[in-house]
Amino acid sequence: MAFDLVFFGGTGDLVWRKLMPALFQAFRHGTLPEGGRIIGVARDPMTDAQYRTLIQSRFAQVEGSKRPNDEEFSRFAALLHYERVDLSNPADYAQLGARLAERETTSVVMYLATAPSLFKTVCEQLAAAQLNTPKTRIVLEKPLGHDLQSNRAINASVRSVFAEHQVFRIDHYLGKPSVQNLFAMRFGNALFEPLWRREHIANIQITIAEELGVEKRGAFYENTGALRDMVQNHALQLLCALAMEPPINSHADAIRDEKLKVLRALKPWTTETLGQHVVRGQYSAGNVNGQAVPGYREEVGVNPNSHTETFVALRTEIANWRWAGVPFYIRTGKRLASREAHIEINFRPTPHAIFQSPAGAVNKLIIHLQPKDGLELHLFAQGQNTRSKDGSPAGQTLSPVHLDLDFDKRFGSERVGAYERLLLDVLAGRLNLFVRSDEQEEAWRWVEPVMQHWAHDTQGPRLYTAGTWGPSASSAMIARDGFCWSEEI
Ligand code: BG6
Repeated sequence: MAFDLVFFGGTGDLVWRKLMPALFQAFRHGTLPEGGRIIGVARDPMTDAQYRTLIQSRFAQVEGSKRPNDEEFSRFAALLHYERVDLSNPADYAQLGARLAERETTSVVMYLATAPSLFKTVCEQLAAAQLNTPKTRIVLEKPLGHDLQSNRAINASVRSVFAEHQVFRIDHYLGKPSVQNLFAMRFGNALFEPLWRREHIANIQITIAEELGVEKRGAFYENTGALRDMVQNHALQLLCALAMEPPINSHADAIRDEKLKVLRALKPWTTETLGQHVVRGQYSAGNVNGQAVPGYREEVGVNPNSHTETFVALRTEIANWRWAGVPFYIRTGKRLASREAHIEINFRPTPHAIFQSPAGAVNKLIIHLQPKDGLELHLFAQGQNTRSKDGSPAGQTLSPVHLDLDFDKRFGSERVGAYERLLLDVLAGRLNLFVRSDEQEEAWRWVEPVMQHWAHDTQGPRLYTAGTWGPSASSAMIARDGFCWSEEI
C-alpha cells in the first residue's frame, strides 16, 4: 500500500511534537505500511536533507524510549521529504502535484496541520491543481472554526472539493486507547447494558483536568477558552460515547449516526440553566505540584484584563427515553489539582436499606482515561467477620470495596498512542474514530448559547487558585442536585 502523506504546516509544532513521533512509533513497530513517503510542506526553502536534519533535531526533545537512535532515525529519515509551498501560490501546488505524480500510490493524504483560517485556501488550491482525486484523503485538525457559522463555512469549502468519506476530522481523544475501551466496555459486553439507563443511574460526571497552564499558547488561547478548546469537542465526544445507543454495526456512519442523535437530544439552554448550570473560571497564581505558577492574566500573550475561561463546569441532560432526568456533569480546566481524566457513573442507591451503609455511599463505576487507564467498580461488602466494640455483629455495617481493572497492567503501557492510531486509520481509510461534519455542527450549535451568554456577562469568569479543583461555584452547582464531585467525598 504505497502512500504519500503530506503535512501542510510541515515545520510546525504539531508535526514535530505529535505527528512525526507517532509515525516513528508505527515505523518502529512495523505497522506503518511500506512504500510510504512523508512530505513536509511549508513556506521556507529547504532540501529533503535539511528537513530530515530539522526533524532529527526535534526528535532530540522526544521523551526517553520513544526517541529513535541514530540507526533507527536514518532508516525512518528515508521516508521524509520536503516541498516548499506558499499556500496561496498555484504554481507551488503544481510543483507539489509533480512530486506526487513521480510514482504510483494507492492513497494520498493531505494533513492540514495549519491554522484553520487557511483550510479554505488550501482546499481551493488543491482543487485548482487537480489534487483532489478519488484516492485523496484530507485530515483536518481542530479547532474547526470559532463558532457554528465559521465551522459551517469551513465544512462548506471542504465539501465543495472533497466528498465526506474523504474527510478525516481529528478529535485526538477518540484515538486514545482508553476512549476506545469505553466503546468496547459498552458494546462488547452485555453486562452493563441493562443498567445503563435512567432507572439505575443517578448521574454521570466527566472530568478532564490538566495541571498545565496555557504554556506558550497564550495568544491562541485568548481567542479560544476552555469551552471551545475542550468542551465542544473532547468532552462532548466522551458524552456521546457514554450516552449513545448501541450502533447497528461497527461501521463509521452507524457509530456517527448514534453520536449525532445524542448531540441533538442535549437539552437546549434556557436563561435559567445558563445562569445556574454553567460555571466559568480562570486560574489565578498558585501552586501546582509544589511549584509556584503565575495566574492566567500574567501569562505571555494574555490580556491582563482577560475574560477568557480556563475552566468550565456544566450540567446538562439528554432528552430521550434512556436518559431523561439524569444529570450529566462536565468539568474541565487548566492548572487544576492533578492531571487526570475520568468518568464517574453513579448508580442509584438500593431501593430499601437493610444494612447500614456509609453516608452517601452508592455503587459507582469509574472509568479512568488518563494517566491511569482502567475501570473501578465500587461495591459494598461485609467487612471483617469480627465483633465490634459494642458487641453488635460487625456485619451489619457495610464497607466500601472496589474491583480494580488496570488496562496498562493487563495490556502493557506501550499501547498505541492516540495520534499513531489515528494516522494509521487515515492511511487505512477507516473513519470510525473521526468526526462527521454534522456532529461537529451540532456540537457548535449546542455550545453557542453559552458563548453568547458569556459575551454579555460583564462579571467575567470566577477566579480559582492554580492547583485547586476550580471555583467553588462548581461544587455548589453539583451540590444543588444533592451530589458532589469525586474528590469531595
Ligand atoms: C487539546 C487542547 O485539544 O487537548 C489542549 O487544545 C489540551 O489545550 C489538550 O491541553 C489535552 O490533550 P491531552 O491528550 O493531553 O489530554
